[in-house]
This record gives sequence, structure tokens and C-alpha cells, in this order.
Amino acid sequence: MKREIKKILKEFENSEIALLQVLNYIQSKKGFVDDESIEEVSNILKISRDEIRSLVSFYHFIHQEKTGKYRIYVCTNIPCLLKGADKLISDIKNFLDIEIGETTPDGLFSVFETECIGQCDSAPAIIINDKIYRNLSREKIKKIIDRIKKNEES
Ligand code: FES
Repeated sequence: MKREIKKILKEFENSEIALLQVLNYIQSKKGFVDDESIEEVSNILKISRDEIRSLVSFYHFIHQEKTGKYRIYVCTNIPCLLKGADKLISDIKNFLDIEIGETTPDGLFSVFETECIGQCDSAPAIIINDKIYRNLSREKIKKIIDRIKKNEES
């Protein structure tokens, strides 16, 4: 992991963006940023663990506890709510049989609420890991979840 972290740092010239990229990288590999990772990043970047922890707790896309391989973030700001985000959340929770903030027993999915993700004209919108999905309906989200499950089985 050290090599990948140094590569990211070089690309982003040691700015706060670089630290975020590093944390995102760890999140994508492990599903969360644990104490061991914080320790490693702290040693490499010469930044205090507290500073890293405060950044981790500030960005809700970065988690300190293990999440599913696919993290579903449903926008719950007004434009998305007006276009059915509440119903969408309810459908997702029913399809996966979990509540907001929980992970499916197979470790595949976690569901979270998020602030606006800049897709208001295509509401309701969600992000799954780094990918944005727009104009969602019950049928569309079911297809997306089923497709992910199918891909994971093959
Ligand atoms: S309000 Fe949902 S994407 Fe902007």
C-alpha cells in the first residue's frame, strides 16, 4: 500500500486533496479507513493521527468502520425528496433488508443518506461507490442491485 500512497502523493503534490485521495484509495481497497491505515498514513505523510481522524470524520464518504463492498449513498436533499428519494430509500432498504447505515450479511451492500450530489436536475440520484445514477425509480434501482449481485456471483 505504501507504494500506491506515494504515487498518489506525487500526483497531487502533498495537498489536502492528496490526503483525501489517499483515504479514498484505502476506503476503496478495504471498505473503510481503520486505525492501522491511519497509523500508516500518519507515518508516511508525517501528519498526526488526530488530524487524519478529524478529516475522516468530516467526510461522510469515508468510513472508520467496515462497510459493504458497494456503498449506496442516496441523496436526501429537497429536490431529490420532491422526486421520490424517500420512496427510493424505502425500496432499497426493502430490497436489501437493511436499514440506513447497515451492511448486508454477505458484506456486499451498505446504504447511507447523503447531501446533494449535484444531480438535482436528474433527481432522485444516488452514488454507488464512485458511480452516479440518475432519474431513479423502483424498477431501475432493482435492476442495478440485481446486476451487481449477478456480477458478484459470476
Ligand atoms: S438534491 Fe439530490 S442531487 Fe441535488
